[in-house]
This record gives sequence, C-alpha cells and structure tokens, in this order.
Amino acid sequence: MTLQIKTLEQYKEVYQQSVEQPEAFWAAQAETFQWRKKWDKVLDYNFSEPNINWFKGGKLNITENCLDRHLATRGEQVAILWEANDPNTPAKSYTYKQLHAEVCKAANALKAMGIQKGDRVCFYMPMVPELAIGVLACARIGAVHSVVFAGFSANALADRIKDATCKMVICSDYNSRGAKNIPVKQIVDDALALGCDSIETVLVHKNTGGKINWNTELDKWWHEEVAAQSTDCPAEEMDSEDMLFILYTSGSTGKPKGVVHTCGGYMVYTCFSFRNVFQYQEGDVYWCTADIGWITGHSYIVYGPLLAGATTIMFEGVPTYPDAGRFWEVCDKHKVNQFYTAPTAIRALMAKGDEYVDKYDLSSLKVIGSVGEPINQEAWEWYNKEVGKGNAPIVDTWWQTETGGILITPLPGITDTKPCYASYPMPGVQPVLMNADGEEVQGNGVEGLLCVKFPWPSMIRTTYGDHERCKNVYFSAFENMYFTGDGARRDENGRYRIIGRVDDVINVSGHRMGTAEVENAINEHENVIESAVVGYPHDIKGQGIYAYIITQQAVEDEAAFTKEVRAVVTREIGPIAKPDLVQVVPGLPKTRSGKIMRRILRKVASGDVSNLGDTSTLLNPDVVQAVMDGAKVELKK
Ligand code: PRX
Repeated sequence: MTLQIKTLEQYKEVYQQSVEQPEAFWAAQAETFQWRKKWDKVLDYNFSEPNINWFKGGKLNITENCLDRHLATRGEQVAILWEANDPNTPAKSYTYKQLHAEVCKAANALKAMGIQKGDRVCFYMPMVPELAIGVLACARIGAVHSVVFAGFSANALADRIKDATCKMVICSDYNSRGAKNIPVKQIVDDALALGCDSIETVLVHKNTGGKINWNTELDKWWHEEVAAQSTDCPAEEMDSEDMLFILYTSGSTGKPKGVVHTCGGYMVYTCFSFRNVFQYQEGDVYWCTADIGWITGHSYIVYGPLLAGATTIMFEGVPTYPDAGRFWEVCDKHKVNQFYTAPTAIRALMAKGDEYVDKYDLSSLKVIGSVGEPINQEAWEWYNKEVGKGNAPIVDTWWQTETGGILITPLPGITDTKPCYASYPMPGVQPVLMNADGEEVQGNGVEGLLCVKFPWPSMIRTTYGDHERCKNVYFSAFENMYFTGDGARRDENGRYRIIGRVDDVINVSGHRMGTAEVENAINEHENVIESAVVGYPHDIKGQGIYAYIITQQAVEDEAAFTKEVRAVVTREIGPIAKPDLVQVVPGLPKTRSGKIMRRILRKVASGDVSNLGDTSTLLNPDVVQAVMDGAKVELKK
C-alpha cells in the first residue's frame, strides 16, 4: 500500500522530499501496485504543449489493482455497500470477490457486444451498483468510460455522446431519487433522436421495472447480456498513459470539455490521497455522498477506496428523503467512520434543525470531509459541532475535475484545521499564487491566482478531441504552470483559503457551470435577444444563478416568462442550471469594444452597489441605472 502519513513531522519531511525528489517519491508510491511491466521513466513532461507522462512505459490494468490484488487478503471483505433510495430496501453488499466476479461478467458482456480497447462507453445511470460495475468493466477491457451525471438533459447528454463518439450508452430504465421517478431510458431515447450516430448499443439496466420504449435494433438488457457470462475476464494490458476515462466539465467559454485522465498516474494518486486524506484504517466503513457522475465519485467512491482495499458506501438517494435525517441515519446504521459530502448538503441540513442529527448515534465518525465549493464558517462550525461532535476533524478538500484527486487539504489529526481553509498542499503538490502580471506572489498573508508549478500524477492530460483547448485554458495563462481558474489566499501559516473562481464559471450547489453555457441555453428562447448570467451569493446553494435578459418583445407577464426561461434551460442543460432570478433589462452594460461588463452585473446581483467603479467609459452608461432599478434583489447602496 502507498504511504500513510501519521504525524506532522512526517508530513513535513515527506512534503519536503516530494518537492526535492519528486521522481523518487512517486516511484516509491507506484512500487506498491501491481504492474505488468515497470515504467522506464517516472516523469517526462513539458507544460508548454502540454505533454505529461507519468510512469512512462509502464504496463498495468487499474482493475487488477482495485480487485484482483485484494482477493487473497480480503476477498470476503465488503468492497461496495449499497444503500437504496428507499430506507426500507435492504442494503446490498458486494465483497471484493463478488465485485471481481461481477466486473468480469460485465466486461465479458461488453466484449461480446463488440466493445474493444479504446472505444468510448457513455454511462447515464442512477447511483446503482451496476454503474460502478460497468465503469470497472470498461477499465478491465481498456474501454474509456464517459459518465454523464443523470441530472443532465437529453440535449446535454447528446452533446457529450457526440463529442466522444461513444459506441454504447449504458443506462437504467428509471431512477428513483427521493420521491421522484425519473425516466432515464426515455431521456436516452430523446438524446439518440438528436443524432448520436456512433451509438451501436443501448444497454439497459432494469432498476424499477417501469415501462419503457424498446428499440429492437439498439436496445439490450443488462441482465440478459451479463448473466450468462464467465466470471473470468483477463484484464487488458494498458499503458500508463492510455486513456482511462473522459469526464465532461464546464469552462468559461464554449461547450463543456472532456477532461481526460490516464491509467497509471491516476491510480497512484487517487489511492495515495484517499489513504492520507481520510486516514482509512483496516475495517473502516467509508462513505462519500457524491454522485459517480462527478469527479468526486470517480476518485473517491470507486477508484481511490477500491485501490486502497476499503469498504465504500454507494448511496442511491438524496439527503432529504424521506427526511433531513437520512445521512445521519445511514451513518448510524452502517457505523460510518469517514464521511465526505458537499457544503450545499451541509447548509441545507443545517437549515432543517439539529433534531435530525441528534436522533442518531454518530460516534463512529472519525473524519468528516467537505468538497466542491467553499464552505462558509457557519456551516463549518455546525458540521464540526453537530456532526463531528468536536472529535472528527473536518477535511476541507480543494481539487477539480482536472486535478483528478485532492490537492489541498488538512490531514486529519496531523495538520491543524481552520474554518474556510483547505489548508496545506498534499505531498507532491506545489501550489503557487500568481499576480496579473504573471509574477509569483511570494511570502505569506497574500492573495493571488492559484496555479500549480509542478506536475502531479493524476493531472489532466488533454481535453478530448481538442488538445489546443487544454493548452489554452490551463497552460497558457502563466508560463510553465497549470492554472486552476481559482483565486486563493495564503495566510500567515501558509494555509490556503480558496476564494472562488476568477473566470466565468459559477458553482451552484457544488455543480460547476459556465455562464456562457447557461446564456446559450437561455438564448434558445424565441423572445430572447441577448442574456448575461452571473452568480450571486445564495444561502444554501453557495451561488445562485442570476440572468439578465434583453427581449425582443416587451414582457407582460414576468412570472410566466421566468418560468419559460427556466424550462428552456432545463431542456438544454438540465434542472441544475435553471436561473434562480430572471430580470428583463433594456440593455446590458458594455465596454466600447462591446464586451459585457460582468463586474457591474455581479455587483447588482450581490445587492452591493456601493462601489460600482467607473461606469463612465461604458458604451451605454445609462443602462446601469435601469439594471439597478429593476434588480431582483434588495440593493445596499
Ligand atoms: O472553484 C473550485 C471549487 O470547485 C471547482 C472545481 O469544480 P469541479 O471540477 O466540479 O470539482 C469539484 C469536486 C472536486 C474548483 O475550481 N472547489 C472545489 N473544492 C473546493 C472548492 N472551492 C473551495 N473549497 C473547496 N474545498
């Protein structure tokens, strides 16, 4: 197993070594895995192209490390513990031996249906065990998985299928989420109707057994294809830098991009970070509440925990069903030791009152984590007191789809914790703060744009089908640096506090969204001429979506128009991107070169117009007053 740091002195020592001798450090971690063939070179990279190779020439299969290598030592231990949406449905568990068998069967089924190494397979599924099994089955045979969060619309799904020219979609019939029953297969049918010509098969997992349309040319049942397969499926030999998966994420411009992760480095880093950030011990039960449709689920429900031989819980439901005590009920029921969730969930549950937490015994919790967005002090304090009972350190973990794993975080019981601070870099991670002139901001007690100046094993390799975009977005802002898109502060002790995105990306309930993407969706409404979307502070969601819209014809019924706009966005992207506030404006403040002055729109949306700055250079300064007059929030002058 990879190193598990135990003391502060050791952290400091290891960190130092990882910076001074990164290759030796990571080679030692990589040695702990099963390789078909050792690497020729630990690291070969340049950030200018970028061209990043970790464990170059090494051959492996990540599933042999997630599954096969545990069989002798922990074959009977539970690998995945599945908790259903309905609390009355019994939990289902898969031991490492059972999971291995199921993955092999599914892998053989995929092969039988013509899926080969390098083919892309799209997943559009609820949080059922078959999702994890399917993902691992792809990795087993070298197919590239592209999981699309099942809350995205048919349009968004179609865009992603087309971008990656997927050969197969794996879906469920329906998704039971809280009290809802979502017609997943129907959404896939709708996506395919938008011309996903590359799709040869739709593999359907029977989840609720509800009625679905059946297309005899494309559709196949999971249970029929998988059941008769052999439980033996030799793993495909993969190069360290062969693609493992694609995961789409939003940027400040254009359509979502497919972030590409590769096999060797991702394996080493997710296992290493999982073991250290959560201080997982033999026999512990670990639960990450994320969805596998996001990177958190990939790295810290599936790969990291399984690589580390952990018991990982997979939860189908939502935090508030049947009531706001569900998370704590599950923690109590399964005696969860490490719990990892998002600030949005914490804030929503905090708002429901302490009685939902107090009902349950949470004494098993040793570490509690937060991810995906800044956690505000109030939520941090509540989480610490009510959930952790002051005994379970909070790990406020900062990372991104592109980073593959957690980069900045406290190590529980080892480094200190401070509300709102993601704190210290992981070993091997070299964060820096840059100023707008491209210079590194030195010292402590400073702020800047967060970059990383040295590669780490699980970093993004490319954006699928468009390497130039990867270069432009992440490696061009500052020479020889990976640019995160976040602003950060470094306090007197060298702890990092993430301030938030500095680009046109907003973070709504921990879901990352490009404002341009939402605007493009809004512009599909027939009465919309132009729109501008900004984030604004929202008590529960962290950020809400505020849309300023110029219409062709005057809007008589604003409530009805808002409803229509929300429906269009739901159709184009999904309900997670629906604007919270819609304001019809006569114009948008623009610079003389025609660029929207978002700074002003953000200020109005935040309700604070005390310091609007110089608006006299605008093309249309009078619009500012009109925007303020019609603001959907109360303005503090
Ligand atoms: O702005 C940062 C925020 O989420 C962004 C990454 O989003 P995504 O790729 O969807 O990955 C989320 C899960 C890893 C970052 O650029 N973010 C993530 N974690 C934190 C955070 N902001 C503050 N504190 C965090 N702990």
